[in-house]
Amino acid sequence: MVIYKAKDYQDMSRKAANIISAQIIMKPNCVLGLATGSSPVGTYKQLIEWYKKGDLDFSQVTSVNLDEYKGLSPENDQSYRYFMNTNLFDHVNIDKTRTFVPDGLEADSEKACNDYNAVIRKQGGVDLQLLGLGHNGHIGFNEPGAAFEKETHCVDLTESTIEANKRFFESEDDVPRQAYTMGIKNIMQAKKILVVVSGEDKADILKEVLYGPITPEVPASILQLHNDVTIVADEAALSKIDM
Ligand code: F6R
Repeated sequence: MVIYKAKDYQDMSRKAANIISAQIIMKPNCVLGLATGSSPVGTYKQLIEWYKKGDLDFSQVTSVNLDEYKGLSPENDQSYRYFMNTNLFDHVNIDKTRTFVPDGLEADSEKACNDYNAVIRKQGGVDLQLLGLGHNGHIGFNEPGAAFEKETHCVDLTESTIEANKRFFESEDDVPRQAYTMGIKNIMQAKKILVVVSGEDKADILKEVLYGPITPEVPASILQLHNDVTIVADEAALSKIDM
């Protein structure tokens, strides 16, 4: 595991974008595993900037996203498909037919999850998986207690996740109660993993993830067992770790 210390969010974003662009340059037809949330937004901005300068070409890139709310359409501005379109895909020359997000409108959970696993397999696996880290150690929507061996599955959102996400919706009732997420097994099968972590509020959990016991109670702790993980975190997020 390699840990890069960044000065702040912007520096973290630039370092992470450098790693992703190196991946695209080395393998133009790579498969990127992508995440939503506030952590990767700056990384996507930086990638867009370099694309606009002519330094990056997404034309052969394929992407698979970690997760999607069950029941939200791609047009819903809270869906993760919408997030990816507005924060990255609409601004670069990626072929949208090769950008995959679980189908939030598929009501049959088993079908939605099996289809998504098949999509990932068909691409030949993920070359580089980008992850953010939840305050409770979750990755994707794999909350504490999720079995490490799971592939894409449907999760019931915890009260704390509903509470944390309700600020984005008109009312708490509008927050979806379920989501489709890649499982830990899918994530661990990626050839390389890049985790971006920012802010003092993530310092305790980051320390636990990196140096605590490997346990489903801290889903991201399993990353200790992956052989190619890069953490890019800012000083605030690394403040509890003696580098
Ligand atoms: C996003 C995702 C989540 C987030 C995590 C951190 O697709 O799967 O696991 O990465 O909740 O969110 P932020 O970056 O908003 O702190």
